[in-house]
Amino acid sequence: MNEIDRTTQRTCMVGTLRTEHVGSTQRVAGWVHRRRNLGGLYFLDLRDRSGLLQLSLGPDWTDQASLQVVQAAGPESVITAEGRVEQRPDPNPELATGAVELRVHSLELLNAAVTPPIGVYRAPDEEAPSEDLRLRHRMLDLRRPELQRTLKLRHCLVLEARNYMDSQGFLELETPILTKPTPEGARDYLVPSRVQRGEFYALPQSPQLYKQILMAAGFDRYFQIARCFRDEDLRADRQPEFTQIDVEASFIEPDDLFGWMEGLMGAMAAVAGVGAPLPFPSVTWAEAMERFGSDRPDLRWSVEIRDWTPALASAESRILRAAIESGGRVRGLVFEGGARLSRKDIQGVEAPAKAVGAPGLLWLKRSTEGVSGPMARFVSEAVVDAMGLGTGDLALAAAGPDRVTSPALAAARTAALTALGVAVEREHAWLWVRDFPLFEEDGDRLAPSHHPFVLPHPDDLADLDRRPADVRGLAYDLVYNGSELGSGSIRIHDATLQQRIFRMLGLGDEEIDRKFGHLLRALRAGAPPHGGIAFGMDRIVKMFTDAPSLRDVVAFPKTTAARALFEGAPSPVTDQELAELGLGLASE
Ligand code: AMO
Repeated sequence: MNEIDRTTQRTCMVGTLRTEHVGSTQRVAGWVHRRRNLGGLYFLDLRDRSGLLQLSLGPDWTDQASLQVVQAAGPESVITAEGRVEQRPDPNPELATGAVELRVHSLELLNAAVTPPIGVYRAPDEEAPSEDLRLRHRMLDLRRPELQRTLKLRHCLVLEARNYMDSQGFLELETPILTKPTPEGARDYLVPSRVQRGEFYALPQSPQLYKQILMAAGFDRYFQIARCFRDEDLRADRQPEFTQIDVEASFIEPDDLFGWMEGLMGAMAAVAGVGAPLPFPSVTWAEAMERFGSDRPDLRWSVEIRDWTPALASAESRILRAAIESGGRVRGLVFEGGARLSRKDIQGVEAPAKAVGAPGLLWLKRSTEGVSGPMARFVSEAVVDAMGLGTGDLALAAAGPDRVTSPALAAARTAALTALGVAVEREHAWLWVRDFPLFEEDGDRLAPSHHPFVLPHPDDLADLDRRPADVRGLAYDLVYNGSELGSGSIRIHDATLQQRIFRMLGLGDEEIDRKFGHLLRALRAGAPPHGGIAFGMDRIVKMFTDAPSLRDVVAFPKTTAARALFEGAPSPVTDQELAELGLGLASE
């Protein structure tokens, strides 16, 4: 990225000055990051987008008026200064410009700032202000070098994505923001129409249907850096509005897409200095669940779930017997050196497993003195050996149906690895997870696992009526270090099959026509086989920068209560504004 150089108000940006500029006269402009007064000499750290530069002011080289002005230039005031670049007598190796300083001849205050409620400069041992306060004063928080760096990187990543997609023949096409609902599993943000009273647009949860229609329209390869809106419960990795790199292509198989998308991720990762060894490994959903209990396993560690059902089938344990007799299994994990965890630590590891619905975990430690823990009384040494438990190791086990034990063991896996501080085996673990189930069972109803447009796996079509819960979809996710970065599928391009799936999901023909008539018309008009994917841009930046939350990678994020604290949104509207829309508020 090019840093801006000369404008009419300055000769360079502060972060660009180096030893080779010594002796030159420069005019710089920016914010007072920090000011120190050492007995009549002033040192200012001046900040602009490019970095920091030390300015020095003293009676021997600075004019009298400027020495007066600098006293009024409190933190975050905007100033401009002209002077000579000099070698610094006390170089600061922490700063890119640390070898030089600007000896200021004259300084002008362009805008004095009120005392900032939160500091932009923070002393090394100073605690950060609360997130609420930082969000409320976002313009100050955004001035912090960390956020400046992250948002610059975000720009570079988006640019790289655009260039890469263009190089592969994808066209960036815009799709509407005022649209019809697209089912992605969240609630819609609705926008009332003033002209069509009583009718509403929905903000797009994704451009899903439009991109499929663009394939039917013959554009062949589409992408978009697309804003999406979802009214759902927010977490650290979810925002109500977020950005996707949205992709769709015609006449493809999943492997075509994997190739392009690995190229895209590789190019973006290189920009961020993140490792992305190509090609990425891939597992089926069933394999991921069996080996890691999760559809987004963190493969920085290779610990895998083991099936101990045969080894423990005859154990004298009521819990295990009941679980096995009702068709469940006993599965678990072994952590080398895990025996050093205390009973209390193990309770801490068990808590997230319980939080996802497991009644609890069984555990066993093996030390030189023998075995201990709740499983100890019903396992012989031979069984302990069969479980693969060495001296100093810890085993955690869960008994019951896989749908309960898988998430429990996945949660315990992460918690135990963290509690033990196990070093990662690789720093960057990328993984494709393929062949997700087409449906989820919701009581006696079927719900789409992802969205209703996923093509059933051709080998499972015969099971669609007989055993729908076992039917796989041609759907895939890209996982990086345990986080879902993207998700996609090959789509149904045949209107009859699409209608059949809608009906299986419990939609009546009238509802199908009202909600999806436009898609079915597009499919009937001669839609090519097609498929695509969408990546969460915000999640990519979060993962690449190791940021704790999406709020650290979005310029103006919302809180977990979906509020914008800086500008104060959402906000009430007047009765008159509501009346114009034909709306009124229901009383509580
Ligand atoms: P999906 O709903 O899985 O798929 O979304 C794709 C990716 O978008 C990101 N993402 C989010 N990021 C931040 N905040 C959110 N609330 C949020 N929700 C999703 C995730 C996710 O992997 N139309 C399909 C894609 C397709 O089939 O082509 C879709 O939107 O990184």
